[in-house]
Amino acid sequence: MSANETPQTSATYDSAFLRACRREPVPHTPVWFMRQAGRSLPEYRKVREGIPMLESCMRPELVTEITLQPVRRHNVDAAIYYSDIVVPLKAIGIDLEIKPGVGPVVDRPIRTRADLAQLRDLTPEDVSYVTEAIGLLTRELGATPLIGFAGAPFTLASYLIEGGPSRSYENAKAMMYGDPELWADLLDRLADITAAFLKVQIEAGASAVQLFDSWVGSLAPADYRRSVMPASAKVFEAVAGYGVPRIHFGVGTGELLNLMGEAGADVVGVDWRVPLDEAVRRVGPGKALQGNLDPTVLFTTPEIVEAKTREVLDAAAGLEGHVFNLGHGVMPSTDPDALTRLVDYVHTRTAR
Ligand code: CP3
Repeated sequence: MSANETPQTSATYDSAFLRACRREPVPHTPVWFMRQAGRSLPEYRKVREGIPMLESCMRPELVTEITLQPVRRHNVDAAIYYSDIVVPLKAIGIDLEIKPGVGPVVDRPIRTRADLAQLRDLTPEDVSYVTEAIGLLTRELGATPLIGFAGAPFTLASYLIEGGPSRSYENAKAMMYGDPELWADLLDRLADITAAFLKVQIEAGASAVQLFDSWVGSLAPADYRRSVMPASAKVFEAVAGYGVPRIHFGVGTGELLNLMGEAGADVVGVDWRVPLDEAVRRVGPGKALQGNLDPTVLFTTPEIVEAKTREVLDAAAGLEGHVFNLGHGVMPSTDPDALTRLVDYVHTRTAR
């Protein structure tokens, strides 16, 4: 399937978001927020009442409603498919749950070669609810593009090996340093699962994809290059033929931005630690950038939000393509009105 054969309309193809990803001229800088769906919205908390997180991801009508909520409310330039990075792992039978206030918890962590047997390939039938939900969504969204996503191999491996969220990733990194063969096999399998999951989303109608390499900033560049980049690069390569923009995001990745540029994405997400005019030098030419307002700025006054937003936009002035976002996800206690105002400010300020 090539770019013009993907199930999206030409209005979607010409949206500000997809144009910015392709580094084409835009009518205004497009904006969306990581974690724009979720606990910051009262309407989300209401529809999720009594439904466990992972179960909510398997109900197409609910997924559609939750994905659309921030689009209706904030006038963002893209929707992000409501799901979680552990959904494909659950779908192939890994025993895990998402504990409220904690995150993903895995019943039997992967620590030995025998444990690898828990992983099998993902088929579209394993996630038929994703295909169904994206079908519903693309009809509702009209010209607004839908971003599909998946967790990157390192970030998924960190949950599988640690058994849950971690600050230091000691078990994951011990496997990476101590048993490089097992580590490489695990990441390679996760790359195949991730690629298969992204393909399902693109074939169902997602018009861009983001790989969340959220925790990769814990690695030194040489270790990232040797032990992690091949798996992330395999994922990008596997979906290159569709012609949909591929976004690569991580936190604390200042020292890795050049390598993330090399890994193959079209758009590199930057957290708030590196200004975009410096990030573009590190990433190198031929990529759009996404970011990078510190999400905690939204807890200040509207005047300070505007001043800090201007700093981001000024730093982005020389970029070939810029997608405005936060440097990481929306924090659950964020005032949703602050997000609506922020979208409006970026649109007005950058209107050409
Ligand atoms: O709007 C969107 O961005 C789409 C939804 C989305 C969710 N998870 C829904 C969710 C996305 C893109 C994710 C990705 C995700 N999940 C990542 C990568 C993004 C990042 O933050 O770097 C990671 C690391 C996870 C794993 C995960 N899932 C964590 C750490 C948590 C938070 C646990 C908590 O309760 O604080 C989750 C749960 C989760 N995923 C929630 C949502 C809306 C909250 C659970 C709830 O509402 O009950």
